[in-house]
Amino acid sequence: MAYTVPQLTDYSPAALEKAADESIAACQTESANVRSDADLKSFRDRWMARKNGILTQINDLWLKGAPKDAKREAGMRVNQLKARITELVESAHIAGGVDLLASERVDISLPGIRRPIGAEHPIIKTMHEIVGVFQRLGYSVAEGPVVETDYYNFEALNFPPNHPARDTQDTLFIAGQQSKPARERLLLRTHTSPVQIRTMEKMRPPIRIVIPGTVHRNDPPDASHSPMFHQIEGLAVDTNITFGDLKGTLDHAMKALFGSSVKTHFRPSFFPFTEPSAELYVTCFICGGSGKRDGNAPCRPCKQTGWIEVLGCGMVDPNVFEFVKDNGYDPKKVSGFAFGMGVDRLALLKYGVDDLQYFFQGDVRFLQQFG
Ligand code: PHE
Repeated sequence: MAYTVPQLTDYSPAALEKAADESIAACQTESANVRSDADLKSFRDRWMARKNGILTQINDLWLKGAPKDAKREAGMRVNQLKARITELVESAHIAGGVDLLASERVDISLPGIRRPIGAEHPIIKTMHEIVGVFQRLGYSVAEGPVVETDYYNFEALNFPPNHPARDTQDTLFIAGQQSKPARERLLLRTHTSPVQIRTMEKMRPPIRIVIPGTVHRNDPPDASHSPMFHQIEGLAVDTNITFGDLKGTLDHAMKALFGSSVKTHFRPSFFPFTEPSAELYVTCFICGGSGKRDGNAPCRPCKQTGWIEVLGCGMVDPNVFEFVKDNGYDPKKVSGFAFGMGVDRLALLKYGVDDLQYFFQGDVRFLQQFG
């Protein structure tokens, strides 16, 4: 028979003691019968639950029901009993104590967890390769913020306010900037060129730097476009830097990147911050410049022209130097060249990937191939 709390009629010390002993004995017996976690829980609840647990019942029946002159004695006894039972319940454990310990035991014979080692993302890998080529030429690496002001992204690069050349950049602007002066308004940089100005503000000439980073343009994603992509900018400023230096440097870099047999070719172009400006083409490293694949099939990456456009470049426009003149960049004394290339497209061609979006979807099955 399970223990139930008796109603007391006799409140003499002897009767109280007997009742208390009975309840302690019942608690001990039940405690010895705990066999599982579930048993342990119901045992604890049965004795300790605030609402209608045995201790609560004892309190209600024995204490509140005691006649006035026995209240003191009953109070003392009940408190002692509560302490003892609490002790019993708290020290209760699953019989034999084996189950609890077994679940805590560490099996040192189990093999460890093998964590796969990550690898560089193909775009980052391509970036490191390109940066490495210029580092070996003595260039250092600079970086700048992705959220940029109109001043650095446009104005100081000789894009006057409202100039149509700004429209070619499909700029993503940060909202709620209308109350600021135009040049302080924030946007996502559309190219890495603002870091040219930021670096020239900090470092006096001569400088040779490359600037890797992410840029954003309002282009819907498709097989060859992404609103976020990567560029590497280059800038060299010194006395007597000529277009010949630009050609020699970039020709060397393209051979280091795509193999010594590639040829380079410059076509006139326009950028507000370089004058003259050019686009650099290399012979297609897929078809070797013939425009044809095996079996006379048309070469797609170069659109059968045999040439692939890799970057924009030019001689730093004197108007750009005017913005950093006070830091040693007097356009009458120094000259320089700059270039900027899109890394994603190069990685795409290099690895023969046919959709740019694969690079940004984070699918391990795709990325694993480059590990
Ligand atoms: N910033 C230009 C672009 O994103 C590229 C460029 C860089 C051109 C440096 C000339 C000099 O299109």
